[in-house]
Amino acid sequence: MYVYICALLFSSLLLATSAQSKFEYEIKEFQVPLDHFSFLSNASFSIRYLYNESYADKSNPKSIFFYTGNEGDIEWFAKNSGFVWELAEKERAIVVFAEHRYYGKSLPFGSDTFNASKPEHLAYFTVEQTLEDYALLITFLRNGRQLPVVAFGGSYGGMLAAWFRIKYPHIVVGALAASAPILQFEGLTPCDIFNEITTSVFNTAYNANCSANIGKSWHAFETMAATDAGKKQLGDKFHLCEPIKNGDDLNQFMDYLEDVYANLAMSNYPYNTNFLAPLPANPVRQFCLYLKDLHADEADLVSSMASALAVYTNYSGSDPCVDYKNSNASSATVDSSGWEIQSCNQMVMPFCANSSNTMYRTSTWDLKKVSDKCYKKFQLTPKPFDIVLRYGGRDLVAASNIIFSNGLLDPWSGGGVLMSPNDRIHIIILPEGAHHLDLRQSNPMDPASVVDARQKEAAIIGQWISEFYRYL
Ligand SMILES: *[C@@H]1O[C@H](CO)[C@@H](O)[C@H](O)[C@H]1NC(C)=O
Ligand SMILES: *[C@@H]1O[C@H](CO)[C@@H](O)[C@H](O)[C@H]1NC(C)=O
Ligand SMILES: *[C@@H]1O[C@H](CO)[C@@H](O)[C@H](O)[C@H]1NC(C)=O
Ligand SMILES: *[C@@H]1O[C@H](CO)[C@@H](O)[C@H](O)[C@H]1NC(C)=O
Ligand SMILES: *[C@@H]1O[C@H](CO)[C@@H](O)[C@H](O)[C@H]1NC(C)=O
Ligand SMILES: *[C@@H]1O[C@H](CO)[C@@H](O)[C@H](O)[C@H]1NC(C)=O
Ligand SMILES: *[C@@H]1O[C@H](CO)[C@@H](O)[C@H](O)[C@H]1NC(C)=O
Repeated sequence: MYVYICALLFSSLLLATSAQSKFEYEIKEFQVPLDHFSFLSNASFSIRYLYNESYADKSNPKSIFFYTGNEGDIEWFAKNSGFVWELAEKERAIVVFAEHRYYGKSLPFGSDTFNASKPEHLAYFTVEQTLEDYALLITFLRNGRQLPVVAFGGSYGGMLAAWFRIKYPHIVVGALAASAPILQFEGLTPCDIFNEITTSVFNTAYNANCSANIGKSWHAFETMAATDAGKKQLGDKFHLCEPIKNGDDLNQFMDYLEDVYANLAMSNYPYNTNFLAPLPANPVRQFCLYLKDLHADEADLVSSMASALAVYTNYSGSDPCVDYKNSNASSATVDSSGWEIQSCNQMVMPFCANSSNTMYRTSTWDLKKVSDKCYKKFQLTPKPFDIVLRYGGRDLVAASNIIFSNGLLDPWSGGGVLMSPNDRIHIIILPEGAHHLDLRQSNPMDPASVVDARQKEAAIIGQWISEFYRYL
């Protein structure tokens, strides 16, 4: 699971799209250099951005709220970041959501961008090129006016927002980095923390038998899959789209389950969420209701696991089968291969697990194996220390005006910034929060800690804006 974890993060976000969201904007295009760092080439292409100035006084706008788009179609982020819109209304800000190059419709080489026979097309797919796109776009939108700009982002978008403020403090007055795991890199964070947090969420959501059952299930699956009759039984019980025919299939199925557990923990929101796969409120608890008794009998355990999994795969009752082999089944808007490429150049996030203190199978982080796979697939060699070199890793003492918010129920909080290096970096902890719950539009079921976090965030952002005008 370690290579593609962020793509999974993305599909879990999809699950969390709220049905009632209705945000409106104009879709515009902006031309950017293909390579911001070369003086030899004039090549350019267009990125998309979403624009709404209805809240602002058009002749005299007060500020710009700029969402630093992450790994997917930007419209989807606009619809899932209701807090940006709610606060823009209050602050009378212009709202901009910028699409990340190589995602959505912002493809530098159009439909040929990911052509496997042209690996050179991937050369401009970096965080630095992306931040330059955003810096140029903001400069264009400001049009010579003195206007404070606040960066917003969730997850990888939050990482970009934080790094944007660190590198371009003259362009953005501050950044809200929600659930941004900027420390999920080599040498900064233990590789097993993600799986430990996920385990603890399953351990406490209903009762401890839940994670214990999951921990025992791997052996139960292997036992059952040892015979042809057992393989068939497994396929039938779980309604798998494709049968389990061999050890590879079984491994893929178990990898799929590990991903599901991470996705459930990330989207463990206190209210129903509904988009491509509807989920009930508190989905981990719903899942664990089926696993409240510790099963001594392996066949019993497998049956209960199948019932539990349906909470994730079939809450609507309309999913014909579990597509454990198709990693892109979740969405038409997501290019999960985009994230795979980024994790093969800069976004090298180590993941591992220890079966003796988590519900996961033991797995190690093997950079050599990851590198070989990346080279074979994209002709890319990962640089695991690139991000730390450029953005400082844990050394954030020179940074300012960033809010790092983290929900403690979110497995990504393990790689988040939880302690402030100085009094200009604000840490907001949401004990009952899953993955960037604070960035979503407000909901009556929001726990008090989320309501409180949004109020604090609004106050800090308001201060950044007034400070800008004070020193103008
Ligand atoms: C901007 O948002 C407001 C409030 O949702 C909406 O009424 C307006 O139509 C939007 N403007 C554009 C250009 O979409
Ligand atoms: C770059 O732009 C200049 C000025 O427009 C033009 O003369 C030149 O031919 C262009 N170079 C390339 C490589 O396209
Ligand atoms: C990829 O590029 C090659 C070489 O230009 C071309 O022949 C092929 O049609 C392209 N493939 C796709 C899927 O566009
Ligand atoms: C766990 O399961 C066992 C066996 O079914 C049961 O006796 C025990 O009460 C369960 N533990 C909890 C905390 O419910
Ligand atoms: C989903 O639920 C429906 C209705 O209960 C059932 O017919 C179908 O087999 C289920 N699909 C899966 C994948 O469990
Ligand atoms: C992704 O979806 C496309 C279109 O449905 C399909 O052709 C392709 O096989 C899928 N990819 C994988 C890895 O399953
Ligand atoms: C796994 O955890 C156990 C118990 O905490 C520990 O003794 C062991 O060294 C760990 N293994 C690895 C590979 O870290």
